[in-house]
Amino acid sequence: MKTLTLTRPDDMHLHLRDGAQMRDVLADTTRQFARAIIMPNLKSPVVSTGQALKYRKRIIESLPEHIQGKGDFKPLMTLYLTETTSAEEIRQAKQSGLIHAVKYYPAGATTNSESGVTALDKVYPVLEAMAKQNLPLLVHGEVTSSDVDIFDREAVFIERQLCPLMEDIPELRIVFEHITTKDAVDFVNEGPGGLAATITPQHLLLNRNALFIGGIRPHHFCMPVLKAEAHRCAVVDAAISGSPKFFLGTDSAPHAREAKESACGCAGIYSAHNAIELYAEIFEKSACLDKLEAFASHHGADFYGLPRNEGTITLEKKSWQIPETLAFGESIIIPFRAGEHCQWKIKQ
Ligand code: DOR
Ligand code: ZN
Repeated sequence: MKTLTLTRPDDMHLHLRDGAQMRDVLADTTRQFARAIIMPNLKSPVVSTGQALKYRKRIIESLPEHIQGKGDFKPLMTLYLTETTSAEEIRQAKQSGLIHAVKYYPAGATTNSESGVTALDKVYPVLEAMAKQNLPLLVHGEVTSSDVDIFDREAVFIERQLCPLMEDIPELRIVFEHITTKDAVDFVNEGPGGLAATITPQHLLLNRNALFIGGIRPHHFCMPVLKAEAHRCAVVDAAISGSPKFFLGTDSAPHAREAKESACGCAGIYSAHNAIELYAEIFEKSACLDKLEAFASHHGADFYGLPRNEGTITLEKKSWQIPETLAFGESIIIPFRAGEHCQWKIKQ
């Protein structure tokens, strides 16, 4: 049987939620990943070091029993940037040694982004403090103005927000999260070493047609929304390029089934159940399986200045059916590609 052994990978962009729902999704992530960058967009966002450390404790207490107390999984915490975040908060975050980045949501861009920032220049003192402390800014790279077409939000973000920011604070290290367009790929490739990007499985596997195949497909809806095929191809090329500027970040974002299958369905795709297997499928399709380990296990750690993981995981080439539903607190989630077959399986 064909197998593939990799250094244990890291998920550099993950939504875990909280409480009983978090308990249900943590088993999926910890089966594959040694560490994950934990997004701070809880209903009540994680805006202070104190809150991030309490959230970290809840995550550790919710780990599956068989890995409790083993230090096998490390949550890498982040803060949610608001217009009232202070430079002092940034110093405390860095000093904690447990907070690895600050997330910028443009206000109104996506799930729980109401407390986000309306204009970046309002938070320049905080961004300057981050540059000084070498704490990266993670950007949800989409403008929210109603004059911009939803498919152009990422490209316009580069021009209106990212370029001026990088010119004004060149020392600030930035991760352009979940890139979806050729514009973003080119921009990151041409940018300085302090600029990198995460790539999700859905933006590698699907183009925007997947939103409308035979009817509207709420389980393919996420932000940034899927793009046209030419953009998907550019994102695949970036992932398999071997460039250290691109690394794995699933943006796995669970929502209860009823919140997705609704007249106004939530944005977010749950890929954590079989994320590494999906990435293996994509890299194999491009005949670049040999590039998967660096993308999944090296580039992210190197960017964040973390040691690479020591253990390994092994994947087997084996077709298996992704479940139709998974438990999610009092409800259920429909995982990405529910009911379909996946061609790689992690060896337990
Ligand atoms: O689709 C998304 N869902 N995009 C985001 O940026 C947030 C996420 C969520 O938290 O549900
Ligand atoms: Zn996200």
